[in-house]
Amino acid sequence: MKYKALIDQMTLEEKASLMSGKDFWQTQDIERLGIKSLFLADGPHGIRRQEAAADQLGLNPGIPATCFPTAATVANSWNVNLGEKVGEFLGEEAVSQQVHVLLGPGVNMKRNPLCGRNFEYFSEDPYHAGKLAASYVRGIQSQGISACIKHFAANNQEERRMSIDTVVDERTLREIYLTAFEIAVKEGQTKTVMSSYNRLNGEYTNENQHLMKDILRGEWSYKGVVVTDWGGSNDRIAGLLAGNELEMPTSAGQTNREIVDAIHSGKLEEKTLDENVDRLLDLIFTASEIYEKPYKSDFDVEKHHRVAQKVSEESIILLKNEDKLLPLKFGKKVAVIGDFAKDARYQGGGSSFVNPTILDHTMDCFEESGIVSIGFERGFERYGKKNAELISKACSLAEKADVVFLYIGLDEAAEAEGSDRKSIKLPDNQIELLNALHEVNPNIVAILSCGSVVEMPWIDKVKCLLHGYLGGQAGARAILRVLSGDVNPSGKLAESYPLRYEDTPSYHNFPGNEASVEYREGMYIGYRYFDTAGVDVLFPFGFGLSYTTFEYSNIRVDKDGVTFKLTNTGDRAGMEVVQLYVGCQSNQIFRPKKELKGFDKIFINAGETKTVAIPFDDKTFRYFNVLTNQWEIEEAEYDIMIGASSVDIRLQGSIYIEGTGAEAPYDQEKLPSYFTGNARHVSKEEFEMLLGRKVPASAWDRTKPLGYTDTIEQCQYAKGFTGRLIYHSIVFAHWVLWKMGKRSSANLIMMSIYYMPFRGIARLTGGIVNMQMLDGILLMVNGRFIKGLRHVWKERKKKIKAQKVLS
Ligand code: BGC
Repeated sequence: MKYKALIDQMTLEEKASLMSGKDFWQTQDIERLGIKSLFLADGPHGIRRQEAAADQLGLNPGIPATCFPTAATVANSWNVNLGEKVGEFLGEEAVSQQVHVLLGPGVNMKRNPLCGRNFEYFSEDPYHAGKLAASYVRGIQSQGISACIKHFAANNQEERRMSIDTVVDERTLREIYLTAFEIAVKEGQTKTVMSSYNRLNGEYTNENQHLMKDILRGEWSYKGVVVTDWGGSNDRIAGLLAGNELEMPTSAGQTNREIVDAIHSGKLEEKTLDENVDRLLDLIFTASEIYEKPYKSDFDVEKHHRVAQKVSEESIILLKNEDKLLPLKFGKKVAVIGDFAKDARYQGGGSSFVNPTILDHTMDCFEESGIVSIGFERGFERYGKKNAELISKACSLAEKADVVFLYIGLDEAAEAEGSDRKSIKLPDNQIELLNALHEVNPNIVAILSCGSVVEMPWIDKVKCLLHGYLGGQAGARAILRVLSGDVNPSGKLAESYPLRYEDTPSYHNFPGNEASVEYREGMYIGYRYFDTAGVDVLFPFGFGLSYTTFEYSNIRVDKDGVTFKLTNTGDRAGMEVVQLYVGCQSNQIFRPKKELKGFDKIFINAGETKTVAIPFDDKTFRYFNVLTNQWEIEEAEYDIMIGASSVDIRLQGSIYIEGTGAEAPYDQEKLPSYFTGNARHVSKEEFEMLLGRKVPASAWDRTKPLGYTDTIEQCQYAKGFTGRLIYHSIVFAHWVLWKMGKRSSANLIMMSIYYMPFRGIARLTGGIVNMQMLDGILLMVNGRFIKGLRHVWKERKKKIKAQKVLS
């Protein structure tokens, strides 16, 4: 142990006290030993350091900070150098606010387009997400503080995120849901990992020995700290045994006592506690070093804003450009329509919410773009209410214009932590507007603002489509620069756009049932499914247009990688995202038709040719073998494909690879869906065959009284009237708020109350309610109201007395 001498000086109580927060954002300090607190702050695309009231819901504003484009946006740049830059700037701002651990980036896979937090995640592909995440981590940590990749792992939905059991087979877990984390750990060398709220194959992730010990600490040699997601600690001792050093936020001393008791009773060895303390101390000392010397306590607000703009510019995707309407010809008269042009839609809701230093709105930046606007009309109400007058005014303006810039997208409440979307459609009132505009002026350029996939049955009604995703505080100006042609778009999609939601491979298994979600589609998420099963999509993974054109030639494949030539055949400089996909010609071991195994972004002048090299690495040919329980390589001929997108393969070669000789684990006849890739509708029996065991019960056991890990939502079948009343009051409050149009507040109810396990009442109230009082509350909801009330009262008095003794 690195800090043995220091640990030897600590009392047992002091050691235990380090294992949970001092308050909502800080770790415990021990002044007499010179151990300082760490400050942890969100988040993934801007610092959210709260000075006053603390919350993890994005309710109270943080100190102003630059709001960079969200991860889903930067992912479209496919530029790891840019990712590293974003990390550096985030790190610099974190230092200026004396933050030690920056809670990001989010590395979870986009399993399903409805996930409410997809805007915070990079990709549907683990290799792509991993490379970008690692680049952020390198950037953040270059400033001397720690990044914190999250949410580890298999947390791919918001619904019931604090209780759901993710049931996933080992190979899919490794190849799809863990690979991005693996890359961020190994290549980014992150110093902190945040465990997720959910269970993984039956156990909470922070208590899951297989995930935490075998894989994270064992196979990946991770030496850093694991922090729980806020309020995510269940059994603190089980967490410590799995190597989860830090519980956040504070448990107001409760779990400290549990730790001390566990040592006394022999449930936990002191050596295990010491090892956890040792790793946490390492983080405390290394992430504080920067503050020992003079450090920059401010940052150049304007410069950071400009950087945020550059990042946004490189992440915008041109999805359609009929008649080469874009870049807009000089002098064309433009009607600007859409609420988002007045009030930019630039980030999502929840814990990642940043209080921006500056905020660009389209209409404020229009003049400097050089584009001639003949006026602006809102066109629709942001939160979906129909308004014929707005449509008619918009049409009158559109009639007079050469071109219509139509700003459409999703509102803030649609994309927020804590709840998933109900559909992937754009609101009806926006589509009605589009239809009406199309009647009067077909030259429509749609500008889309949202952080996740939407369905586009209306695509034929627009000539051009520019997807800005959530571009951060300078996103509006960045979009104008692409429209005017000052910037040549170079973003490509990091997720597939299905023709309709029903085509999504996890359609039948999202968000799962009451107690669990079964990942029956296995590894076939995103393009892995569409491509293998031959299902058409609207826009494929990796797709994006440019104002110039590129030609690919001269592919050469050898044991180290692939090289080819790329020529800019158009008349202006541009950047092309080149993608390496690999497929295996043998069908012994089922796998997707092709998988991304490398990529690069190349800047290239008009008429210029460059030689591009994409090396193979340890992930190029590997698959996880469930018999040998390790990564293996199948001996086979492999297709090496260079694409401009996952379906637009421009060059193809092949290579024979000698394998590791492991026995193939599958019986093709028993796993037909996985061998064909038609994995959208897998039967329970076939999934169990893949899983190697029976699936657990997916419904709540309504016969049992409610306990710590049951959620408030489960009060609907509580024995006690009080429990059921609580449930119905919450549902009613949610309904009223939703009807009143207060959708963010309605979401908050779901996030902070409805889906919360009972233990969360004790874990997230900073000691106002302790576990003993919670026992009383549980008695009340379980039908023993008077006894429960007395219990709460008695325990409350005890708590107050104990607090008085301490002070
Ligand atoms: C989120 C985390 C976040 C934490 C602290 C949780 O609700 O899931 O991503 O870092 O709150 O705000």
